[in-house]
Amino acid sequence: MVRERTFSIIKPDAVKQAHIGAIYHQIESAGLRIVAAKMLHLSKAQAEGFYGEHEGKPFYDALIEFMTQGPIMVQVLEGENAIEVYRNLMGATDPSQAEAGTLRANYGSGMPANATHGSDSAEAVSREIAFFFSDDEIIG
Ligand code: TYD
Ligand code: MG
Repeated sequence: MVRERTFSIIKPDAVKQAHIGAIYHQIESAGLRIVAAKMLHLSKAQAEGFYGEHEGKPFYDALIEFMTQGPIMVQVLEGENAIEVYRNLMGATDPSQAEAGTLRANYGSGMPANATHGSDSAEAVSREIAFFFSDDEIIG
């Protein structure tokens, strides 16, 4: 087992519906510690920078529009196998396909409104954490 970090977003749909506390509860109950967190409202340029890998895909414009429609919570999570544990906690990208009890099944309503984001690899973790946090904002 490896202690590692992952990066998480509570997306505008879930913030708007007041699910921050419930999602934090599920994250902590899964054994993941929140070691950095902040609320922000993404600009179009920030959303495009963060989701650059998806540029040109059919859902890209709707994704950028959705991610900029209201405030989000961004956080760094830490724990054993955090990347995989948190991806499993979120469930499938499409909430209608996500296993019962997962964050996306519980709080998502479709795509792109699927409540949460989680890094999918160690490379993504490094890039995504650095996109939003400086080292001194993360509790060691
Ligand atoms: P992706 O990285 O494929 O999924 P995940 O968030 O599970 O890593 O896609 C990024 C986001 O884009 C996804 O969370 C929701 C949105 N999206 C759509 O709106 N439609 C789609 O068909 C896909 C694949 C993603
Ligand atoms: Mg992804």
